[in-house]
Amino acid sequence: MKFEIAPNVYWVGKIDWELRKFHGEEYSTHRGSSYNSYLIKDDKTALIDTVWLPFAEEFVSNLAREIDFDKIDYVIANHAEMDHSGALPELMRHIPDKPIYCTANAVKSLKGHYHQDWNFQVVKTGDKLSLGKKDLVFVEAMMLHWPDSMMTYLTGDAILFSNDAFGQHMASERLFNDLVAQSELFEEATKYYANILTPFSPLVTKKINEVIALNLPLQAICPSHGVIWRENPLQIVQKYLQWAADYQENQITIIYDTMWNGTRILAENIARGIVQKDDKVTVKLYNIARSDINDLVTEVFKSKAILLGSPTINKGILSAMAALLEMITGLKFKNKKAAAFGCYGWSGESVRILADQLTKAGFAIAGEGLKAVWQPNDEALAQAFEFGKEFAGKV
Ligand code: FEO
Repeated sequence: MKFEIAPNVYWVGKIDWELRKFHGEEYSTHRGSSYNSYLIKDDKTALIDTVWLPFAEEFVSNLAREIDFDKIDYVIANHAEMDHSGALPELMRHIPDKPIYCTANAVKSLKGHYHQDWNFQVVKTGDKLSLGKKDLVFVEAMMLHWPDSMMTYLTGDAILFSNDAFGQHMASERLFNDLVAQSELFEEATKYYANILTPFSPLVTKKINEVIALNLPLQAICPSHGVIWRENPLQIVQKYLQWAADYQENQITIIYDTMWNGTRILAENIARGIVQKDDKVTVKLYNIARSDINDLVTEVFKSKAILLGSPTINKGILSAMAALLEMITGLKFKNKKAAAFGCYGWSGESVRILADQLTKAGFAIAGEGLKAVWQPNDEALAQAFEFGKEFAGKV
């Protein structure tokens, strides 16, 4: 399958409707994904990126229907991660001497993955590769989101092949931003940013401003996952600038785990206190053990404050909550407040542990946490309600 993006510029990737987990089991992909590869024909022909390994043979045989491999002059590897480079070994088996243009870091990654000494041509920001009437211009994008990441700009058609940046994990038979449900598109784009790019937000801002300063015309942004931004492509750039600026909405998210419902009941009473105090704020509650962790990370991303609750078990916290804390610590959220709560029977360490880990994760702790011994009684429920009111006042 291929489709045209501009005259002689084609999408030749793979739409993966079945994908439900990405990065191993780390990232849920409820709407599948796509691995976008692009073929540009001019006097010379370039192929930008490939697809994930399970689709390598399918990709290469489909590509063979579109072009005689001898006519591929250049392979561009914008990023070495295996969802884009996985079909390189199968492709390079057919064209072993063709040059692969990539960053110096990508040479290390590609050699590390595939142990092949292909004809690597290292490029840096500003380097150009003439295709004849048009040029490819390379822009290094270190740590967006790997050290090897790079974008490639096609002059003439004014297309930025942005690789992972501006992508979304969503499958569609119509891979253009104006042909999909906007609510689904932005839900997936937000989730993608929250779960993958948040730690690199300062670099996102810097890189976008660097590219804007080049004053290049822009007709389309072609990421390596999901839809092509052809209608108002700058809208996703503006979104990235917002998201990179310590994004938050007027939302408080309460995330808890519970053994015998005590901590859940605390959570629900805290929520009632919050809405009593603040009639504008959006309040959402989730049981972490019954929720998708990546969807919850997206809710944390949107929140100005979070409350985490866990009962004490074995002088610690419940394991699903520990996994969430590990994830949000790595994501380095900024400009968010937090507090902790939980039930206990005899030792009661969970609230302190949650607060300590939230602090380590960069959240500003807003007030003492709330502990309730055994099953919350009327007094404990009233305390939870007041705790919610006070928390809403502080954030
Ligand atoms: Fe889509 Fe970083 O790979």
